[in-house]
Amino acid sequence: MRLLTVKGLDKKFKTVHAVKGIDFHIEQGEILGLLGPNGAGKSTTISMISTLLKPDGGDIIYNNESIIKNPKAIQENLGYVPQEIALYPMLSGRENLMFWGRAYGLKGSTLKKAVSEVSEIIGIDDRLKDKVKTYSGGMQRRLNIGVALLHNPELIIMDEPTVGIDPQSRKHILDTVLHLNKDKGMTVIYTSHYMEEVEYLCNRICIMDQGKIIAEGTKDELVKANNPKTNIHIKIDRDMESAIVKLKTIESVETVIEEEELIKIISKQDEQLFKNIIQVIGELDVTILSMDIQEPDLESVFLSLTGRVLRD
Ligand SMILES: Nc1ncnc2c1ncn2[C@@H]1O[C@H](COP(=O)(O)OP(=O)(O)OP(=O)(O)O)[C@@H](O)[C@H]1O
Ligand SMILES: [Mg+2]
Repeated sequence: MRLLTVKGLDKKFKTVHAVKGIDFHIEQGEILGLLGPNGAGKSTTISMISTLLKPDGGDIIYNNESIIKNPKAIQENLGYVPQEIALYPMLSGRENLMFWGRAYGLKGSTLKKAVSEVSEIIGIDDRLKDKVKTYSGGMQRRLNIGVALLHNPELIIMDEPTVGIDPQSRKHILDTVLHLNKDKGMTVIYTSHYMEEVEYLCNRICIMDQGKIIAEGTKDELVKANNPKTNIHIKIDRDMESAIVKLKTIESVETVIEEEELIKIISKQDEQLFKNIIQVIGELDVTILSMDIQEPDLESVFLSLTGRVLRD
């Protein structure tokens, strides 16, 4: 069942056209990934879905109803986890949950039950009595997610929930997303610029860049649609700059970039490719230390679509 449809959604800030008439949809029970680099327009998009920001154009349909005309249609069913932590640092974790639970209209034994269920999901029971200002970044994130779960929403939207936290909390959050989806039947929109997370969690992915959705599909579909391409990583001992200039002269080569001491090449299918690479690098006074063919992944899809890497 179609839960949400975004049609021609558009948002301009004074000088920035942040979201440029995008279309996408979410089926009930999906984990949809919104993947894109800094400034792509992810937060602006989900702020509009969460009714915190008014679009300049287009519509958002939730369960057959326009949420632009009737924001209530989504508000009661939505758990929104903002990119910035929104908690009271001087209150304990438990007090924060109680406060936000009341804000959602929960009270009495329903509130207590919701708080204890959410505490179990986010797994910080032993620290719930402590003030939030004493929590690590990862624990604050987990509590922030807990706040969005108190009213047991049918759709949960998370905006880059794992940025800048410890690996243990990161793993916990990813597992929580899967648990909420598989065991509680929640539909999820997961925003990230980490392609591994999106690959791991999401049924379907929208890749966003510069205010547009530039590709949409399952990981396999995205990779296939951008095939046949060959991705090769080369490591040489010196003079990467000259090598990159030379490699760009090979006709079948589409993109060459340098990242983390590697030269990354995306090329059309070409039987002569290896031979040509070795030939042009052979014209320089360098040694090839390694040369690997990479399985295409979302990073190579992004690179091939934009000529840029998907990183901080
Ligand atoms: N309130 C605002 N006023 C002016 N410009 C804004 C505002 N909010 C966002 N922008 C601009 O709109 C563009 C999209 O921003 P947005 O925050 O949606 O990107 P994002 O994909 O969430 O990026 P990040 O990964 O950094 O969170 C950026 O150029 C940003 O600077
Ligand atoms: Mg953002």
